[in-house]
Amino acid sequence: MKKQNGRDHEPQAEGPADNAFIEKVVRSQAHWQATVDAVRDFIFVVDRDCRIRNANVSFAARYGCHPRELRGRDINELLGFEIPQPEELAADAGTTGAVITKEIMVNESSYVVSVFPARYDDEEVYVYVIKDITELIDLKGKLYHTYKLASLGRLVSGVAHELNNPLTGILGYTEILGLKVKDEAIRRDLDKIYKSAERCRVIIDSLLCFSRQQAPQKNLEYIHELIDKTVELRAYWHRNRKIEVIREYGEDIPLAYIDTQQIQQVVLNILMNAEDAIVESSQVGKIIIKVRYDRDRQRIMVSIADNGMGIPKENIPRIFDPFFTTKAVNKGTGLGLSISYGIVLEHGGSLHVECGEGADTVFNIELPLK
Ligand SMILES: Nc1ncnc2c1ncn2[C@@H]1O[C@H](COP(=O)(O)OP(=O)(O)OP(=O)(O)O)[C@@H](O)[C@H]1O
Ligand SMILES: [Mg+2]
Repeated sequence: MKKQNGRDHEPQAEGPADNAFIEKVVRSQAHWQATVDAVRDFIFVVDRDCRIRNANVSFAARYGCHPRELRGRDINELLGFEIPQPEELAADAGTTGAVITKEIMVNESSYVVSVFPARYDDEEVYVYVIKDITELIDLKGKLYHTYKLASLGRLVSGVAHELNNPLTGILGYTEILGLKVKDEAIRRDLDKIYKSAERCRVIIDSLLCFSRQQAPQKNLEYIHELIDKTVELRAYWHRNRKIEVIREYGEDIPLAYIDTQQIQQVVLNILMNAEDAIVESSQVGKIIIKVRYDRDRQRIMVSIADNGMGIPKENIPRIFDPFFTTKAVNKGTGLGLSISYGIVLEHGGSLHVECGEGADTVFNIELPLK
């Protein structure tokens, strides 16, 4: 019996009933340990002097050791970053059941640290649970973005429809006046009005497209063939600016159920953004378009990379926001990427960007087969 629980100060077990009881206690203790070890969050217990009394496997694994090797170590020295200290809880510990919960950032990762007071016999101890919430925050950001797009879409849709009717009038009457007027100077002025109104029409069309509520009209289509057609549309422009477009398509890319026009619009916008970025930089332009099929996830993966000026780190969280543009007033509306984001999302896919210092800017589109 001594051997079994290793505690020689305990009274000797007398009979089978005691043996069974001790076995039960040992097993129950092992179950609790297994429970705590199954949790991926970091769990550890410290005393008032910040010495570790216990830890789970996940926390010990961070230091490449067994939990037992951490016992007695100073938690603050070990962690190397700040956490709420036991004395912050000590005043209330055990009486009011007060707990501390704090969010902290460590090397661009976010954690929630919770501290709970507990008792080991007569001694006060503190149970820490540290949870990595980096992915959760990321997801929250994405959901917020989607929600923001949806509510903005409703607002924009109302305004754009209201503007559309008077604009049709402006365009129509300017054209009629142009036919009636003989004076060249007046005709030139009318032409300016017409061109400005046309620009408004383009913007309104983009707004309506951005706020589009109708579901995609899907057909079976080869995405790489659609990309070929889209690149063809820009071929003259690419030749003129000496931009090389390289296409690398994987084998056996299956047909996908997509709205041809909408996906073409996504590709065209990313392509034109790439062209603009190349024109802004003094590099010899290169755009690399890759398409492959991820069989396991049944998704078509498209990446469009350019060696243009890149996106400053501080702008990356904003580029999918409607009306965010770094282009001149008459050049960009800042709607291209937010429209694209909405379209890809409606297709059940995802769109994101990778951009590092000195590296290519890569837009990744993932689309399901249907
Ligand atoms: N490949 C790229 N390289 C560098 N910056 C980019 C790239 N793609 C997008 N951006 C940045 O993201 C911003 C938003 O792009 P988005 O396509 O939404 O709008 P836009 O191109 O400015 O206007 P438009 O409505 O005409 O498309 C751009 O103004 C630019 O700053
Ligand atoms: Mg654009």
